[in-house]
Amino acid sequence: MDCKFVSECGSCTLNLPYTEQIEFKKEYIEREFKDFYAGEFEFFASESIYYRSRAEFGIYHNKNQISYSMRGKNQKFVMIDECLKVDSKIAAIMSPLLKYIEKNQNLRDKLFGVEFISTKDELLIVLLYHKDISNLKCEFDTLAQEFKIFVIARSRGKKLISGSENLKERLNILQREYKFILGDGAFIQPNRAVNEKMIGWAKDCVKDSRDMLEMYCGHGNFTIPMADKFSKILATEISKKSIENALKNCKLNGIDNIKFIRLSADELMQAFAGVREFNRLKKINLSEFNFSHILVDPPRVGLETSVINFIKNYENIIYISCNPTTLKENLKELSKSHKVSKFAIFDQFANTTHIECGVLLRSKNEN
Ligand SMILES: C[S@@+](CC[C@H](N)C(=O)[O-])C[C@H]1O[C@@H](n2cnc3c(N)ncnc32)[C@H](O)[C@@H]1O
Repeated sequence: MDCKFVSECGSCTLNLPYTEQIEFKKEYIEREFKDFYAGEFEFFASESIYYRSRAEFGIYHNKNQISYSMRGKNQKFVMIDECLKVDSKIAAIMSPLLKYIEKNQNLRDKLFGVEFISTKDELLIVLLYHKDISNLKCEFDTLAQEFKIFVIARSRGKKLISGSENLKERLNILQREYKFILGDGAFIQPNRAVNEKMIGWAKDCVKDSRDMLEMYCGHGNFTIPMADKFSKILATEISKKSIENALKNCKLNGIDNIKFIRLSADELMQAFAGVREFNRLKKINLSEFNFSHILVDPPRVGLETSVINFIKNYENIIYISCNPTTLKENLKELSKSHKVSKFAIFDQFANTTHIECGVLLRSKNEN
């Protein structure tokens, strides 16, 4: 990457030409997972610059001047005035936004961070303050109007919204467009183009389907584009905000065969085992579902033992993982009952050593 900060900035940790990054990641995954899979590892590449639709920077103050800052490789912070990995809408606004804020003492003082979230059509910035912001609503509204963006300002216990806290996204999955509402305060896949490829891959994994159980479903990123492959879907997730958006996203796309429920993985396991009743499940009869597919996309810690013991009873498991180390640990257990039949690498995090994988597991009891 042709970035002037690459030797100091701690964010992009893989400083190789992009084709070599692909080789590096492919070789690493092939080596780590050779005991589980002998077939072809598909690689879904990213743009090497302007690909991240979510980014957060610190703000460094020097008297009346401010600068964006990132964690450094050797020193604590590095001052930056641009970032090549953020998507082009974020890259274009970074410098003018900083100049605007710098000139306005009310906006500038005690600002310690800025988060950017972009979609194909919209941009939201979240300004983080160490001060009381109650009287500054007008200033944030003017900023939002000036740049034609949405603004959220946060300080301890206070959140001011100028415009909207939700963004509209459009994803193109296997030639069909899906609409999503997403926002600050809940999980969002960071690389939109690779996310589109990842959902398409997961959808292509589905053959001979009945119902699907999806755990860790977020705002329905996989669930909604995959809904037409199934008779019914049960989708669960711990975050209230994500489930609120998932319900809106179902309506937006005219989909009516998904039940979204806010339940942690552990709570769902208790519900299936019949050891605890949940009000949230009052209108749902779990025994009506006949799952042919389980989709899991857990956080970096991977799957809990209770989840592994539950999902290994089903024919097909689609496992999306953002951490090869916990994926490998979980596959040691799952490969006792299942065989890996497809393996994909999604380069969500170009220029870093992070790797996202997709694995399709088929029960050894099925042909
Ligand atoms: C890697 S994200 C995937 C989200 C979604 N599949 C997507 O593509 O946007 C993991 C999700 O798991 C949720 N989560 C974290 N811990 C959980 C738990 N113990 N039980 C259920 N969901 C959890 C997070 O809120 C987050 O939405």
